[in-house]
Amino acid sequence: MISIIGAGRVGSAIAFLVGQSGLDDLVIVNRSKNKALGEALDVNNTLPEKSLISVMGTDDFSKIKNSDVVIITVSGGVIKEDRAELLPFNVPIVSEICKNLAKYADEAKVIVVTNPIDVLAYQILEQTKFPRERVIGMGSSLDSSRFHYLLAKELGVKQGQIDGLVIGEHGSTMVPLFSNAKSQGQKINISEKKTDEITSELKNYWKYLVAYKEASVFGAAKNTFDIAKSIVEGKDLLASASVYLDGEYGFSGFSMGVPVVFSKNGVKEILQLPLDDKETKLLKISAKKISDDINTLSTYYQI
Ligand code: LAC
Repeated sequence: MISIIGAGRVGSAIAFLVGQSGLDDLVIVNRSKNKALGEALDVNNTLPEKSLISVMGTDDFSKIKNSDVVIITVSGGVIKEDRAELLPFNVPIVSEICKNLAKYADEAKVIVVTNPIDVLAYQILEQTKFPRERVIGMGSSLDSSRFHYLLAKELGVKQGQIDGLVIGEHGSTMVPLFSNAKSQGQKINISEKKTDEITSELKNYWKYLVAYKEASVFGAAKNTFDIAKSIVEGKDLLASASVYLDGEYGFSGFSMGVPVVFSKNGVKEILQLPLDDKETKLLKISAKKISDDINTLSTYYQI
């Protein structure tokens, strides 16, 4: 069973993807019960022919009992420049959700979509003491999708002909791995000026979405759905995601976007890709940004 906490635009889009695919039984939890009921009523009309899944909406956390996957999308506040601005709003909300996770779904794999993703993934680990493979921050896979779009546009190819990952913070210090990126199976070869331009567009992509359509929705939903699908079906999926590091890439003690393989137990493996000097330096900057933000957590909640 999949539980989605938060029936806002992203949560509802994920619910739609779960319903229309018939992936698994679904519980949509929202503070406003009517919103959850409404989204469930709507998603119930998207199930595939002969699907045996059930979809329900509720404001009662006990309904997440024994969920295999819990997806956290609730959010307060508005980002002006940095996703960390949402900490005062979202840390208390996530703290309450952690209490319910421990009470009703202490075996669940948790996918965090709420920003700032890396810091909140760390908070959930700290508060629930869940093993690291079961607490996943969905951000870098979204950034990687955007990287594919921008590289395909630059190189005049289709997105499906691009391979490339973004790691680090799901935020202003994210690190696109140009050194590993490929177009039609060949290493890409673009100027430093162009990589800087693409990196800037990548970091500001969310701002374009907010300017044009007020929010980022479908990209976040689809990348979250893919991770949930990999876990529910137990089929390997290679993607970037925020995971608690224990020596990987030379870092320990916090969550950050790295290449991972997902499967039925959450994170199956962390892949250590070769980075060039510039990427290594940028990843250190990203690690410091996340660690500095984590160090402010005690301002907003006490374990
Ligand atoms: C974005 C939000 C989901 O990058 O962080 O669109």
